Amino acid sequence: MSGHEQQYVAEAFASNWLSSVGPNLDRFEEEVAGRLGEGVSTLAVASGTAALHLILRWLGVGPGDRVAVSTLTFAGSVFPIMYLGATPVFIDSERESWNIDPSLVREYLRTAAAAGTLPKALVAVHLYGQHCDIDAIAEACREYGVPLVEDAAESLGGTYRGRQTATTADYSLLSFNGNKIITTTAGGMVVARSAEAIAVMRKWSTQAREPAAEYVHHELGYNYRMSNVLAGIGRGQLQVLDERVAQRRAVAERYAAAFGMMCGASLQPESSWGLHTRWLTVAILDPRQTGVRPNEVVEVLGRSEIEARPVWRPMHTQPLFADAPRVGGTVAEELFASGVCLPSSSSLPASDQARVIESLQRCLAAGQSPRQDGARSAMAPAHHRRGSSAA
Ligand SMILES: Cc1ncc(COP(=O)(O)O)c(C=O)c1O
Repeated sequence: MSGHEQQYVAEAFASNWLSSVGPNLDRFEEEVAGRLGEGVSTLAVASGTAALHLILRWLGVGPGDRVAVSTLTFAGSVFPIMYLGATPVFIDSERESWNIDPSLVREYLRTAAAAGTLPKALVAVHLYGQHCDIDAIAEACREYGVPLVEDAAESLGGTYRGRQTATTADYSLLSFNGNKIITTTAGGMVVARSAEAIAVMRKWSTQAREPAAEYVHHELGYNYRMSNVLAGIGRGQLQVLDERVAQRRAVAERYAAAFGMMCGASLQPESSWGLHTRWLTVAILDPRQTGVRPNEVVEVLGRSEIEARPVWRPMHTQPLFADAPRVGGTVAEELFASGVCLPSSSSLPASDQARVIESLQRCLAAGQSPRQDGARSAMAPAHHRRGSSAA
């Protein structure tokens, strides 16, 4: 927290605006829109997942439709497709940014158009705070008449070619979940160029109540609105967004400096087209050079009470999506096989980070040091271990 939040929360309590209407909600929506720039409208909702659900419904996604989406992402980018009875089509990453590959998008849309199976929408995720190459994707989508949605849940504060994230497509979603760069504890936002779209989604998010004294409903609604109390937290958080991005980037820079001394370790590259928020710092630890796999690194760091995680498991490899169509090769799978998300909080003290780096160094050194009998240490990947026991 920044210290500004409690004032707005106290105002909500003092005025008794505690639920799904109130001044904090109005101001928070205006302030985020103001931060993003001219011509966008916003709707504060209960989560980023809810925001995407509303957007896809507005775009007319329904049973039997297809929606294309980055495969290297969190399930929140995909579940709303399923809520609407549609099928996700997973598209692989490109190596430069780790995001959805524009050339695959173009090729996929060309083939789908020829087969009459164009998707109803395409959801492009800005992974770990780094913007995808959205101009190239938007051009292909425009050519084939496919609406484009930006999943900016991880990238608020980042930019693409001088533009703010969440303004580079007609529809975007933000997340203010507790782990995000700024938070309302739980929450999300729809950002759209169409005020009309926002008005309809606003109605759906409050149980689709018609403007009548009695409760009249002509269409299906959801209880998706953010509360005026949580919007107060958001207002305080928004004031420190740039500071938070700078802190996260400083964390990434300290890791980068340390990686210079570690063989086989590197950071998710930062693309030339924009500012990466470094919501999470993600390390590539090439198992062929380091002798360790991401899960082993996570386990070893965990023993020192350091929480690290593997890169998102690509959605096309999830048991739930075993039957879903996929496009592309193995880039996302390779990133999953070698990537580790390191502790990246904006409040991570430099002394704690030094302990993380030291533990990581020890872990990699153990993976690289041959034992007396010539085999790798117990940290070595499974195929090395099998090899050594066979010997
Ligand atoms: C890329 C991405 N999309 C969507 C979501 C869903 O947001 P929420 O947790 O607010 O529902 C998240 C994060 O949680 C995310 O990281």
